[in-house]
Amino acid sequence: MAQSHPIEGYTPLQKILHWAVVLLLIAQYLVLEDGMGPALRDTIQTGTPVLTTMPLLHMGVGILILILALVRIALRAMVGAPPPPAHEPPIFKTAAGAVHVLFYVLLIGLPLGGLAAYFIPSGLFGEVHEVATNVLLALAGLHVVAVVVHQFWWKSRLMQRMT
Ligand code: HEM
Ligand code: HEM
Repeated sequence: MAQSHPIEGYTPLQKILHWAVVLLLIAQYLVLEDGMGPALRDTIQTGTPVLTTMPLLHMGVGILILILALVRIALRAMVGAPPPPAHEPPIFKTAAGAVHVLFYVLLIGLPLGGLAAYFIPSGLFGEVHEVATNVLLALAGLHVVAVVVHQFWWKSRLMQRMT
């Protein structure tokens, strides 16, 4: 993603959006996924989307994550992002960039895939949605490990850029 004028850390709004999305994802994974599988099965059987509390909350939070991802991309295009830490090996800079792009792709693709699963309705899209949630989880794990390595091994104080 293009970096316009570099800044020391992320702007306050970029930080708020990063952590807001993390909290929304935690809610989505730990609470709001409850009953989505059966709701999709009922939806496929009856041909009418089940719109009870849980599916509505899951859908609402998912759409909010999608909107916030679009705002983050627009913001990044306008104000840029801090350059990678100076002494980081080039391969890690490339990997971090790739993971960040993939995050944005998933934060947009996941809700769209979920909506497709529910409103077509389609079991296949449901399965793709499930696989994508696991990919996002794996990337989040990698992302956290990278932050910890930066912070404690390379002592690059990466965390301060996002807090
Ligand atoms: C970034 C946003 C979203 C995240 C992180 C997310 C996350 C999840 C998770 C963790 C599950 C459970 C998967 C499993 O059982 O292994 C799930 C299932 C599901 N979600 Fe989402 N979701 C998002 C957006 C949406 C949206 C907007 C909809 C639209 C209605 C949706 C519809 C579904 C459906 C239908 C299932 C059941 C899939 C199945 O069992 O085949 N999701 N989602
Ligand atoms: C699934 C949850 C998460 C997602 C989707 C996510 C996503 C992202 C994205 C897309 C960026 C790059 C922002 C940009 O340059 O536009 C980023 C940066 C960052 N994230 Fe996360 N993040 C998550 C969880 C976390 C957690 C739990 C931590 C703390 C351990 C964390 C710490 C950071 C830090 C320190 C940066 C700045 C990295 C840098 O300056 O190169 N993130 N995150």
